[in-house]
Amino acid sequence: MSQPKPMVAGNWKMNGLKASVSELSALSKMLETSAAASCDVLVCPPFTMLASFSDQADAEIFIGAQDCHSAASGAHTGDISAEMIADAGATHIIVGHSERRADHDETSTQVAQKAAAAHRAGLTAIVCVGETEQERDEGKTVSIVLSQLADSLPPSSTASNIVIAYEPVWAIGTGRTPTTQDVAEVHAALRSALIDRFSEAGSSIAILYGGSVKPSNAHELMAVDNVNGALVGGASLKATDFNGIIDAYRDA
Ligand code: PGA
Repeated sequence: MSQPKPMVAGNWKMNGLKASVSELSALSKMLETSAAASCDVLVCPPFTMLASFSDQADAEIFIGAQDCHSAASGAHTGDISAEMIADAGATHIIVGHSERRADHDETSTQVAQKAAAAHRAGLTAIVCVGETEQERDEGKTVSIVLSQLADSLPPSSTASNIVIAYEPVWAIGTGRTPTTQDVAEVHAALRSALIDRFSEAGSSIAILYGGSVKPSNAHELMAVDNVNGALVGGASLKATDFNGIIDAYRDA
């Protein structure tokens, strides 16, 4: 069965103005001049910059959105549909990020509807799961993550239109990361759930780790079994840091 193609994805969250396109150009240049990396590279800017980033990005960089509405169009003031995101030139949509789950009370059922919307528009859904610190302390990490996964994947999911991101909530933006053993345990559990659901094809789905990934810890984290890339917040805003994480997929 084919191995997952790793992905290093940058989630800019609510950061960046028009001028930030210079970081994208800087990243393009670094990708051009560095050794080839054996991973896909994705940048997810705010909605306001999707179209300009898609226009600027060369073939080496995929552009994605950070959320979408589940409907294709209609009376939903302030929302953005997956079709609009596709029209802006993006190829991926992050759904179920813990900041959406926490700040907007998004449930896994809603996340599944958003992932289905991404599929309806022909896009790949990056489905995020992860436990809170309290859930980890209570020993519930694996059960929480597996139930989020089961409830967040819509029937339209296939091995080629989803990427999974495991992001412990307590590791996001805190500088703290789980041990490599803890990451390995969760990723192994996610892998077997994906194989249960998609049979052998489940082996080819990328499972990203996210939460305080930096150039200094990327090599160690990306070397963990069943870790097929990173979802990066803070360190994705600067091309040099993001490129330093991509280094984990370049020959030493
Ligand atoms: P962080 O964010 O890299 O800043 O911890 C990760 C994320 O939320 O995707």
